[in-house]
Amino acid sequence: MSGEAVVINEVGLRDGLQNQPTQVSTDGKRRLAELLAAAGIRHMEATSFVSPKAVPQMADAAELIACLPNPETVEYSALIPNEKGYERAIAAGVRSVNAVLSATDTMNRKNIRMSLDDMRAVCRRIIAHAREDSIYVRGYVAVAFECPYEGPVPLDKVIALTGEMLDHGADEVIVADTIGAANPNAVHEVFTALAARFDIKRLSAHFHDTRALALANSWAALQAGVRRFDSSIGGLGGCPFAPGAAGNTATEDLVLMLEQCGYRTGIDVPRLLDAVNLATELTGRELGGRMLPWFLSQKKARVGDAHASAQSG
Ligand code: COA
Ligand code: ZN
Repeated sequence: MSGEAVVINEVGLRDGLQNQPTQVSTDGKRRLAELLAAAGIRHMEATSFVSPKAVPQMADAAELIACLPNPETVEYSALIPNEKGYERAIAAGVRSVNAVLSATDTMNRKNIRMSLDDMRAVCRRIIAHAREDSIYVRGYVAVAFECPYEGPVPLDKVIALTGEMLDHGADEVIVADTIGAANPNAVHEVFTALAARFDIKRLSAHFHDTRALALANSWAALQAGVRRFDSSIGGLGGCPFAPGAAGNTATEDLVLMLEQCGYRTGIDVPRLLDAVNLATELTGRELGGRMLPWFLSQKKARVGDAHASAQSG
């Protein structure tokens, strides 16, 4: 286990910001990406090419893509709801797209206004386009544990939809607990079942902290072999179309846990906290994972020690 790499895909700029009432400027988003990259983040879901009427916060998708820092070393992906979104993303220069399939019919209709079957066909076509265009493509299986409209989601359905997208040629499938209703037992069961059927390297986990279980769920997924995680700086997050969706797993909590357990993320926690501060400033919300009070008290103690030794020396 020791020294094993874990890939963190930072989704704060998209999943984190999409539901914020304060409109964040394109330059604010760019600065946030800059601090995240400086902390060592190499994968970010930067925006979504959705209807600006549906999600005004993402209306600047193309402008943002054009000004994101270090595109040679950071993979910036964009969420796309349909083929129009795909075309807009490619025209903006995006090289990595995320298609979204919800596991239930009602959730697809609420989110994208399409039936599950129509959305499955859209995902198949998007994945085919992406492969032809040499674009990296992920598929989300959203509400993979529980749907806010239809309740618990059967495991067979998650297995079938994951398998379908992998068969179509998706590079990765992100299994998402969109409303934060999963628990570690369920997470372990789902990912163990998926790992028995598919290449676990092509699977990723996405949790929300609605019931304070995002970190425990991440650990359960890790134990089932998952080495790719979505998380959001400061625990920012929520979906406007999924009632009850709170913030994502806080990136700083997840990175701290992984590093303390001997995994390598390549991410520097203190520098990540610069990004937490900026996200707080940009959204006007008090953000920060649960490690933050501890970390700040340590920092204060270190400053106090340095001050005392300067006075005595
Ligand atoms: N980007 C920008 N505009 C888009 C678009 C896209 N990807 N897809 C459709 N539109 C536009 C259409 O051109 C049309 O514009 P008009 O009113 O100026 O003619 C309008 O949106 C309606 O198009 P329609 O195909 O009828 O879509 P809809 O009203 O059924 O809405 C979505 C479907 C998917 C576009 C919309 O529900 C959406 O963007 N949802 C966002 C979902 C989301 O971000 N969820 C959170 C993350 S999972
Ligand atoms: Zn989410």
